[in-house]
Amino acid sequence: MTVRLLNGVFSQVLLKPACGCTTPIVPVQFLGISPFQVPSRANFHSVSSSDTEHPRVLITGGLGQLGVGLAKLLRNRFGKDNVILSDIRKPSDHVFYSGPFIYSDILDYKNLREIVVNNRITWLIHYSALLSAVGEANVPLARDVNITGLHNILDTATEHNLRLFVPSTIGAFGPSSPRNPTPDLCIQRPRTIYGVSKVHAELIGEYYHYRYGLDFRCLRYPGIISADSQPGRGTTDYAVHIFHNAMKSGKFQCYLKPDTRLPMMYIDDCLRATLEIMEAPADSLPMRTYNIGAMSFTPEELAQEIVKHVPEFQVTYNVDTVLQAIADSWPMNFDDSNARKDWGWKHYYDLPELVTTMFNFYTSESRAAHVS
Ligand code: SER
Repeated sequence: MTVRLLNGVFSQVLLKPACGCTTPIVPVQFLGISPFQVPSRANFHSVSSSDTEHPRVLITGGLGQLGVGLAKLLRNRFGKDNVILSDIRKPSDHVFYSGPFIYSDILDYKNLREIVVNNRITWLIHYSALLSAVGEANVPLARDVNITGLHNILDTATEHNLRLFVPSTIGAFGPSSPRNPTPDLCIQRPRTIYGVSKVHAELIGEYYHYRYGLDFRCLRYPGIISADSQPGRGTTDYAVHIFHNAMKSGKFQCYLKPDTRLPMMYIDDCLRATLEIMEAPADSLPMRTYNIGAMSFTPEELAQEIVKHVPEFQVTYNVDTVLQAIADSWPMNFDDSNARKDWGWKHYYDLPELVTTMFNFYTSESRAAHVS
């Protein structure tokens, strides 16, 4: 079948995606669908022009380490009601009262479509996933959530012309990848179900982009360090728990060897990067999946930095062989030069800045707890 494209050229229509949507589907280089077109076309309700200027965002897996922080950032930018957090878990009072929250199960395709349609969603941030350690403990669940769930997300996003963000990870690389540094394009043979599912996400997202015009965007996150949200049992999470223990007891038992070097990033840099790639003009993105980096350290180096704030701090090592094997197969340093060149990525937090920020947070928290 032949269709007329936006630029007046005629082209062959490709196959439909599995969602069975009836919109003509053509390669992305011709269609260039903007999610901003969706609300204006669907604008049969009376809405002010300011409603149509901002994306309408749905965040899945919103109660994980990153969702609440990202919702806050996006709500500051696009308005509180334009950003909907979702999860299958019950939110705290604080989360529930700080903006729209709904139940969403990414394994329920109909539920997902209803949410997208009823809320006129234009951007989808897909944070639901099982991380590396928890994935190894339950491979069938990781396969369902990380692979089957992603297929529902891809089909919904394609059907409704959404701009879709899916995070990938340092875990998408494996022992045969170059590890120091790891470039964007190299051998990817991860040895965890988490890593395998993320390579799949990168590849199928890019495939849908070229095949169906899906506006797919993906960043490979390093280990993310946050003070006010807990991570979901990943291999890099020692670098979060170490701060809490340093403050609480002055001691920490680490499950990785002292010289295990991994790329890491403070949460604020990670969330800002996510907003920046989502806002980047499509023509500034010759690739759809980018490494982003900030710092890289070992448990020993992190402990040395923490000692500057907690002089009596002590770390002992009790190595978990499963997690150590995972860490030993991952990048030590990320080469993120393409992100810096193409869409202007830069990090603000290095190791000393990160450690100072974490301790400032915990100190102000404990001061507030004493006052109340
Ligand atoms: N933080 C993740 C993990 O350790 C890596 O992306 O599983």
